Amino acid sequence: MKNESENTMKSNTFYGTDALQQLRNVLVECEKNKQKIVFLSDTHTNKYCVPVLMEMLEQSASNFHQIIIPAGEAHKTLDSVANIWQQLTALGAGRDAFLINLGGGMVTDIGGFAASCFKRGIRTIHIPTSLLAMVDAAIGGKTGIDFQYFKNHIGTFYPSEMVLIFNEFLSTLPERELLSGFAEVLKYGFISDKQLLDADPQQFTTSPALTLIRQCVDIKKAITTLDPTEKAQRKILNFGHTIGHALESYALENEISLLHGEAIAAGMLAELYLSHRLLQLPLQVAENLSTTYKKFYKPYKFSENDITNLIERMFQDKKNNSNKLLFVLITSIGQAVYDQEVSIDLVRESLHYYLYIVE
Ligand SMILES: NC(=O)c1ccc[n+]([C@@H]2O[C@H](COP(=O)([O-])OP(=O)(O)OC[C@H]3O[C@@H](n4cnc5c(N)ncnc54)[C@H](O)[C@@H]3O)[C@@H](O)[C@H]2O)c1
Repeated sequence: MKNESENTMKSNTFYGTDALQQLRNVLVECEKNKQKIVFLSDTHTNKYCVPVLMEMLEQSASNFHQIIIPAGEAHKTLDSVANIWQQLTALGAGRDAFLINLGGGMVTDIGGFAASCFKRGIRTIHIPTSLLAMVDAAIGGKTGIDFQYFKNHIGTFYPSEMVLIFNEFLSTLPERELLSGFAEVLKYGFISDKQLLDADPQQFTTSPALTLIRQCVDIKKAITTLDPTEKAQRKILNFGHTIGHALESYALENEISLLHGEAIAAGMLAELYLSHRLLQLPLQVAENLSTTYKKFYKPYKFSENDITNLIERMFQDKKNNSNKLLFVLITSIGQAVYDQEVSIDLVRESLHYYLYIVE
């Protein structure tokens, strides 16, 4: 039997022309073996990315099916998964079928989850089309859906067989979405490689894009290969996410427009403050991020009355048990520690700091 690390290693990542060749090989093999190929996209990636991919593939993509789901985090739900399973069933997809997820993190998360349970697991490939999915969501084998407005409350660890990265897709990605993905790039800067804090979002729409994307992917792969199911070190990837997910969950429930990366950027700001208070990280680090934050993101504001509600949501976070709030904190730029217990009062103080900074 394979151990967990070997399973994570199974998810090979290919870029550009290598990625295209891998995809062609899979399509030819499936055609020969009469295996069903199903492309999953959302309404936006169906419009913007399917034609680009088909043009790249030319005639080698003749025999496939498509499932299209509504775009947006509000649709990362059990209803959308049921819709995918119904359509796979109607298509007669067997255990040897391939589900190819073409989209941002919403599509790779939900497609990975649907594939992991359908007939106890069918083959799957991720083709991420947003910056966030390229550098983060498609890598590392986590799948999931939101449930009762709690983020990724239901999910599995199910690495895709391959992740195929084409930066061409980024040319149609709206700028706000590019900046959302950029927040995860900054996260890698804080937890691993401080050089990434000097990156500029526009570099992802020009020629160095693949080099920078690969740098982020390599960080995530190195961490998730050692700890595929988040028992220990993998937790550092959640820097900014305890507070970020609470903000995102609150926004989802109240139909406030807040993208994943925007919530994580705000979360990192508050969690850098916690790192200052508990681990003596210079406050200047948080202040530098606040300059970047105000340059790229529309500050998200909540009221004093919302703070108790946000803290209650943090207790639902998968990293926490029912009576402790555990955080990933930063000891120095590029170094993170996990399972750091923080008092409710201090979390409250960090949210006040955030509100003061974004005023
Ligand atoms: N599994 C993981 O490890 C992991 C890690 C980080 C984030 N996530 C999840 O990822 C999701 C966020 O990912 P996201 O920001 O990619 O969101 P998303 O998939 O909702 O994509 C954002 C928007 O951009 C559109 N889009 C995507 N690619 C496009 C393109 N090339 N051109 C035009 N439009 C395009 C989408 O249709 C959508 O409207 C969240 O659900 C988050 O929880 C998962």
